[in-house]
Amino acid sequence: MKEFNAGDVLSLCKRRGFIYPAYEIYGGIAGLYDYGPLGTQMKTNLINLWRSIYVLSEGFIEIDSDIIGPEIVFKASGHAENFQDLMVTCNQCQESFRADHLAKDLHPNPGALSKKDLQALLREKNVICPLCKGDLSDVEEFNLMFKTKIGPGNGRVGYLRPETAQGIFVNYPNLYRYAREQLPFGAVQIGRAYRNEISPRQGVIRLREFNQMEAELFIDPANKSWPRFKLIRDVKVRLVPNTDEKEVEMTFGEAVDNGVIKHETIAYFVWVTQSFLIRAGVDPKRLRFRQHLRSEMAHYAADCWDAEALLSYGWTEIVGVADRGAWDLTRHIQYSQADLSAFKRFDHPKEVERQAFKPKYGLLGPEFKARSAKVGMALEAADVSLLKDGRVEIDVDGEMMTIPEKYFDVVLVKEKINGEKVIPHVIEPSHGLDRIMFTCLEHAYSCDDENYVRMGLTTAAAPIKVGVFPLMAKDDLDKRAMEIDQMLRERGIATYFDDSGTIGRRYARMDEVGTPLCITVDYQVFEDGTVTIRDRDTSRQVRVPEEGLADVVEKLLKGIKFDQLIGKV
Ligand code: ATP
Ligand code: GLY
Repeated sequence: MKEFNAGDVLSLCKRRGFIYPAYEIYGGIAGLYDYGPLGTQMKTNLINLWRSIYVLSEGFIEIDSDIIGPEIVFKASGHAENFQDLMVTCNQCQESFRADHLAKDLHPNPGALSKKDLQALLREKNVICPLCKGDLSDVEEFNLMFKTKIGPGNGRVGYLRPETAQGIFVNYPNLYRYAREQLPFGAVQIGRAYRNEISPRQGVIRLREFNQMEAELFIDPANKSWPRFKLIRDVKVRLVPNTDEKEVEMTFGEAVDNGVIKHETIAYFVWVTQSFLIRAGVDPKRLRFRQHLRSEMAHYAADCWDAEALLSYGWTEIVGVADRGAWDLTRHIQYSQADLSAFKRFDHPKEVERQAFKPKYGLLGPEFKARSAKVGMALEAADVSLLKDGRVEIDVDGEMMTIPEKYFDVVLVKEKINGEKVIPHVIEPSHGLDRIMFTCLEHAYSCDDENYVRMGLTTAAAPIKVGVFPLMAKDDLDKRAMEIDQMLRERGIATYFDDSGTIGRRYARMDEVGTPLCITVDYQVFEDGTVTIRDRDTSRQVRVPEEGLADVVEKLLKGIKFDQLIGKV
């Protein structure tokens, strides 16, 4: 097999219609790419696989929220203040760079350095512009959000969302109600996110417009156990904990028991991520989970494990699984005053003491006459913390009234309560769809010494599932092959009909785009009604009756091995 790099994969992707540089006829724009016909189909396949795991198997609800949000949302989320990368600009050619990227060979983890330390490192090592060798500016912060205006003239300031997650947090009251006011519950969103990346240079790894598939799981802050965790205790995972930053392999059970992963819920969703990525086509030998260093974590994260894939660019984050704690809901409560809590029911009612107003009805009567009963009831219901400067303002039948303290006492009362309000914590697996797709493509790619390219895409990801060929485009072979093609399409199987060139060339075209199976209709079909099915990975072929062909194809696509088929059909 030949060595290859990301450039080889990207050029195949462009040639065969997976990924195109955007606006190419105008010279292109860094960080913007389009998906071609096969890329769009593969992206849909990955979304469907992800959705089948999160929505069908794990029971998350799905929403689709706005991409543009008003400034206050991103002030609350912390992105307006904290969502920035450190940047240097060349004083000569004016090109800007991510400061940590220029320090990547100078420090084991430059992304974790503070602005001051990064500045000192670049100065100490005399780092200059990699393009023109000019001097660099001081390190400065650059906010990655795209700013816009909502409405004409002096319209409100808005931003394109830098993550889909905020659309879920701002809908929390609706979603909590939909989930019948019970924890835990989870919501997902699949859609575009936007980041004005400083110098995107790694194909689709660093885009300015990209696709996320995010899940936000709302849990009881006092209970981070997860019932299904017991099902995956014995599964192995490769971890790089932030304690010593050394890669270790262990079971999820060991990881939680030994405190390497803090709790069952985050461990379970690391497993969900691992199993999705492997089913999508990420090579398990080139996959690991690395825990963020404290200094590296996003402003909202209490803990974070990145799924990293080994690509020709090096180890690259493709998914982040974060414990966002109560950060987002607490901040949105502060900024919106909305109630974003959950009611946690106790197993048994508890007796508690609280301070309350005790109205002096003897004095209320002469003063408030017919309304005195209502004033008294409003006082009993009012919160004692509203008492200020010897008076309290209360709502009596929609009218705000100020009641001086001579009309009430403050007393301790005992009462039974069934539960309490809590602010849920959030566990978030955040998947970068474009990075996952490129990883599947690069991990599937192989090229032999004769330059024969085979893409070993999984059946779930492959954009075309079956190539259908008549041996010759004549003698009714083409008609018969077209009927098979049509029949498979009617069963929902994506096919590609090809009757041009030698059969070898047609197989090669399908191997190059990762099509797992090819069906060839030859003259034997007129004798015994059979056609051949060819397996991409081994090039082996087996004859199968036309009748029941779609069932056999479905079984093969669902994972039955080709070998198991031989002799059984
Ligand atoms: P990086 O450190 O590589 O910039 P990040 O830590 O900022 O990534 P997150 O904020 O955790 O990334 O975003 C969640 C996921 O979204 C990432 O795991 C990644 O797959 C994807 N993602 C983030 N930024 C980009 C981007 N600019 N282009 C493509 N995908 C991205
Ligand atoms: N939602 C995680 C991130 O995009 O930062």
